[in-house]
Amino acid sequence: MRILGLESSCDETAAAVVEDGRTLLSSVVASQVEIHKLYGGVVPEIASRAHTEAVCGVTRSALEKAGLTLADIDAVAVTVEPGLIGALLTGLSFAKGLACAAGKPLVPVHHIRGHIAANYLVHPLLAPPFLALVVSGGDTSLIRVDGYTDFKRIGQTRDDAAGEAFDKAARVLGLPYPGGLMMDRLATAGRKDAFPFTAATVHDSEYDFSFSGLKTAVINCVHTRELRGQPLDEETKADIAASFTDALVRTIVTRVSRLLERSDVPALVLAGGVAANSHLRAALTELCGRLGRPLYLPPLSLCGDNAAMIAAQGYYEYRAGNLAPLSQNAYATAGV
Ligand code: KG4
Repeated sequence: MRILGLESSCDETAAAVVEDGRTLLSSVVASQVEIHKLYGGVVPEIASRAHTEAVCGVTRSALEKAGLTLADIDAVAVTVEPGLIGALLTGLSFAKGLACAAGKPLVPVHHIRGHIAANYLVHPLLAPPFLALVVSGGDTSLIRVDGYTDFKRIGQTRDDAAGEAFDKAARVLGLPYPGGLMMDRLATAGRKDAFPFTAATVHDSEYDFSFSGLKTAVINCVHTRELRGQPLDEETKADIAASFTDALVRTIVTRVSRLLERSDVPALVLAGGVAANSHLRAALTELCGRLGRPLYLPPLSLCGDNAAMIAAQGYYEYRAGNLAPLSQNAYATAGV
């Protein structure tokens, strides 16, 4: 079964074709990063307009690269939640029109479920149950996946997502948006014990996260140095990036470790844009090696937003009978 996936929840317009939820036939991503860079972050209204301009071309290109026409597609899967509401509605409206005109079923997909499903495209033997650690620009969650459409959130961030913390820390260090990748490289050159950053623990939950305090600590550290006339040279920036990254990674690994040790869940799956972080990948590899649990990592090409993951999850949603009516709405926030 061939599914055309469409994704437009934030600042990437993407289309992809996937066969049987596992085989990637094509994937096209039009990034808006260069536009939003000017403003240091995503401007929702601009994102919606850019999606409108890109979505037709991206979809045509995904079909061409797969060597297919719309007639060869069995269903159209589209991200309906969560994300920027205008951006989501752009993709959803296009998908509705396409599905209706071509007489194909429309499949609604949750963006976070999609991030997790990216792993099915590269790990043929991966199947639920497993524990998913989702670390992206808009979410940080620990999710128990008991079936392809059976998800239970066990822990989540109470404030900022890990990606948000990376981007804001990067911005105060003068790095261009989105700063995650640059922070990753900078941290490799720095000393992780140079600054005493820590991420908060959440009083009444052992599995929830809180990153806003860590983000503010980095911002305050940089501003205080500026007020005191202390230099923010490349070495200091690298030390701040390394200390910040270490605090963030330690917080995540502590909660994952606690959960793996206390549960019988057989494997850990990493997902989301921050899954590309080399320090997080190394720490989780070390943890899972020590605990003797398999770890599934997405390739760097499928960590950030893309439509291949939406088509992959769309296959399983279709099989579960989850079809969208033409009155389907989009939702900015939604449980998994
Ligand atoms: O998953 P994603 O594309 O967007 C959401 O679905 O939310 O994630 C984007 C986030 C951005 O915050 C970006 O800075 C971060 O992923 N990111 C990274 C790295 N590469 C991308 N963060 C840390 N290290 C990286 N190597």
